[in-house]
Amino acid sequence: MASLGQILFWSIISIIIILAGAIALIIGFGISGRHSITVTTVASAGNIGEDGILSCTFEPDIKLSDIVIQWLKEGVLGLVHEFKEGKDELSEQDEMFRGRTAVFADQVIVGNASLRLKNVQLTDAGTYKCYIITSKGKGNANLEYKTGAFSMPEVNVDYNASSETLRCEAPRWFPQPTVVWASQVDQGANFSEVSNTSFELNSENVTMKVVSVLYNVTINNTYSCMIENDIAKATGDIKVTESEIKRRSHLQLLNSKASLCVSSFFAISWALLPLSPYLMLK
Ligand SMILES: *[C@@H]1O[C@H](CO)[C@@H](O)[C@H](O)[C@H]1NC(C)=O
Ligand SMILES: *[C@@H]1O[C@H](CO)[C@@H](O)[C@H](O)[C@H]1NC(C)=O
Ligand SMILES: *[C@@H]1O[C@H](CO)[C@@H](O)[C@H](O)[C@H]1NC(C)=O
Ligand SMILES: *[C@@H]1O[C@H](CO)[C@@H](O)[C@H](O)[C@H]1NC(C)=O
Ligand SMILES: *[C@@H]1O[C@H](CO)[C@@H](O)[C@H](O)[C@H]1NC(C)=O
Ligand SMILES: *[C@@H]1O[C@H](CO)[C@@H](O)[C@H](O)[C@H]1NC(C)=O
Ligand SMILES: *[C@@H]1O[C@H](CO)[C@@H](O)[C@H](O)[C@H]1NC(C)=O
Repeated sequence: MASLGQILFWSIISIIIILAGAIALIIGFGISGRHSITVTTVASAGNIGEDGILSCTFEPDIKLSDIVIQWLKEGVLGLVHEFKEGKDELSEQDEMFRGRTAVFADQVIVGNASLRLKNVQLTDAGTYKCYIITSKGKGNANLEYKTGAFSMPEVNVDYNASSETLRCEAPRWFPQPTVVWASQVDQGANFSEVSNTSFELNSENVTMKVVSVLYNVTINNTYSCMIENDIAKATGDIKVTESEIKRRSHLQLLNSKASLCVSSFFAISWALLPLSPYLMLK
């Protein structure tokens, strides 16, 4: 039977072994990276079918010929991209990335190792490593890349509907987002009972068109249609008054600073006329 003393002894031995291992690792890294340089990446998201940028920067080196940039992806045998001696070196590039990658060659000298990825696919999601060697040393940093689809919503008055209705449409989303309506006048109101959201698969069978209809809207109020999945969040605002329609859209990538904004302002004196009596009834 193991005595308390033995348990304590072996516990201490295990802790020592683990600590020694950790120290050996740290020293190992210390030696190999004695001349280590700082490499910085930014997590980002790619929109399927469009071009994306995997952002990576490093301490610049005055000699371009001494800079080696390697992009790797977890679970992929070949390289994603390699740049050395001032030009691309693609002999070890994985087939998955053939013809789809580029670094900004004129930016490398200022410490920009960002990778441009053409025609982003769902399968491009994963952990990437930006590995840099310069005459000062080497360094690397990982980057989480998410892929999906996201697009700006547009809210319109649905003139065909039998009651005062708004229609929010966004052409491409993936994974399936949630859609929530809000209004400035009834803050905190739950519109789920007076709205109807549907998702139509687009022809490539991945992304979907989002359509959400909000019934029984009133004039002089600002309504927001908010579409969100784990990659992006987008909002379309609309305000209908007797003389004009104001719209604003906003798209923000989550876990990233990137943000897009579009505003529009239409004086639609004639287009709104048929609707005005409707809305005035309220
Ligand atoms: C790197 O250069 C590209 C192309 O000029 C630019 O779009 C990108 O923002 C730069 N990245 C950084 C981190 O400066
Ligand atoms: C409204 O109806 C017209 C004709 O009935 C049709 O062409 C148009 O597509 C409809 N608009 C919407 C938003 O359903
Ligand atoms: C709104 O109400 C529905 C049921 O009517 C409920 O499922 C939903 O969680 C509510 N949403 C919020 C944000 O409270
Ligand atoms: C819209 O309002 C009308 C009349 O106030 C009501 O009969 C109808 O049920 C409402 N529609 C919805 C979807 O709440
Ligand atoms: C929601 O929209 C779908 C498709 O347009 C329709 O089939 C369904 O009846 C609608 N539901 C409600 C509650 O309006
Ligand atoms: C999408 O799916 C449909 C039915 O499942 C199929 O007929 C069509 O070929 C698919 N399209 C693409 C681009 O894969
Ligand atoms: C909407 O606002 C305008 C200007 O503020 C006002 O003249 C009008 O009476 C309002 N309409 C309704 C239906 O509240």
